[in-house]
Amino acid sequence: MFGARFLARALRSCSSAPCPGHRPPARLSVRDALGAQSTSGERVKVQGWIRSVRSQKEVLFLHINDGSSLESLQVVADSSFDNRELAFGSSVEVQGQLVKSPSKKQNMELKAEKIEVVGNCDATDNGFVHIHTPIITSNDCEGAGELFQVEPSSKIKMPEENFFNVPAFLTVSGQLHLEVMSGAFTQVFTFGPTFRAENSQSRRHLAEFYMVEAEISFVESLQDLMQVMEGLFKTATMMVLSNCPEDVELCHKFIAPGQKERLEHMLKNNFLIISYTEAVEILKQSSQNFTFTPEWGVDLHTEHEKYLVKHCGNIPVFVINYPLALKPFYMRDNEDGPQHTVAAVDLLVPGVGELFGGSLREERYHFLEQRLARSGLTETYQWYLDLRRFGSVPHGGFGMGFERYLQCILGIDNIKDVIPFPRFTHSCIL
Ligand code: 4AD
Ligand code: MG
Repeated sequence: MFGARFLARALRSCSSAPCPGHRPPARLSVRDALGAQSTSGERVKVQGWIRSVRSQKEVLFLHINDGSSLESLQVVADSSFDNRELAFGSSVEVQGQLVKSPSKKQNMELKAEKIEVVGNCDATDNGFVHIHTPIITSNDCEGAGELFQVEPSSKIKMPEENFFNVPAFLTVSGQLHLEVMSGAFTQVFTFGPTFRAENSQSRRHLAEFYMVEAEISFVESLQDLMQVMEGLFKTATMMVLSNCPEDVELCHKFIAPGQKERLEHMLKNNFLIISYTEAVEILKQSSQNFTFTPEWGVDLHTEHEKYLVKHCGNIPVFVINYPLALKPFYMRDNEDGPQHTVAAVDLLVPGVGELFGGSLREERYHFLEQRLARSGLTETYQWYLDLRRFGSVPHGGFGMGFERYLQCILGIDNIKDVIPFPRFTHSCIL
């Protein structure tokens, strides 16, 4: 009798040793597959990560690499294999026949019979590639001098020099690294901790906070950038609302009554756009007594930002084209005057004020060279200047403070209440 025990034994033996007539395909590295000499049509298995996907009407081409070779292996599959999980960065196991390639570009290629996605990759979202930018860096991207310096705690081993030979700091922004990578991947983002030694105990400042930053090549107008910023805010918020409605409702009910309606109001309206110059005019015309008198050429304070959002009907508002003198060296010169501005954009939101900061970048070599020279930064940023010498393209990007985002959608007044271990001046508990 063929009982369950027999079947179990059969399955067990089949999984540990090849069943007659079902020899498992030999596992090959990409390097071995590319270098194979014989083409006996043997079935093989190759595992690796997708480097590129090209989908044609009837054929799907994948290039996969496992690190064993600089060259990737071309996998040719029937278009019926095509699916969204077969994306750049996903890990796959491909079984099929190793055959001589008809193309001169490679010796061998793999005709796929079975493609299994081992781990799909959300590293590209909407075509944005996730870059892990470093936490320790030698640059002060924002040029504000709000840096924490990094050195070993013990000076015993290296009494004279800096550990990295140059002064190194905790990053204030991954932007400059993203700019490098946007030259390879066009659209990139990073999400990680950033640090600022700002002497501030305000309700919206931390010494350590998370920031999501994006950088996009071939962007030529602030309009295009603002579209991505608005899209990010709205899509992320809709996802939060649909994936964890109970958590959001809890906050809205007990901490910020009325926040649900305020948030819906933000989501259903198009964000507004005003220039910095218009913003200063609005503030000057206001009857409100500000602690800091609004004036062209002076930075907007939180009280100004909150007023502007109220003035705009509690709809998030983009403020664009700030005075050149107020902004970092990398922002694109608008070549206007006499009130000289740069293509900067901040998004102001109800309750918080500034949530996003971004700009078009100065991609023109001579403009950037002059800006750096004026700030005495030419030597430090030689590598950054070099990016403008080799295939420079118009580009831009932005950063959004994650804790401020949570404050905004949950209606939480103090930034220290959206993070379990807030770090700020005079406080680093645990
Ligand atoms: O406006 P910021 O300084 O812009 C940058 O760092 C750019 N390099 C980003 C880019 O273009 N890639 O910072 C971006 C956002 C702010 O709008 C704010 O939401 C948040 O980061 N942020 C802070 N959040 C909490 N505490 C602080 N001390 C913050 N400083 C900035
Ligand atoms: Mg800013």
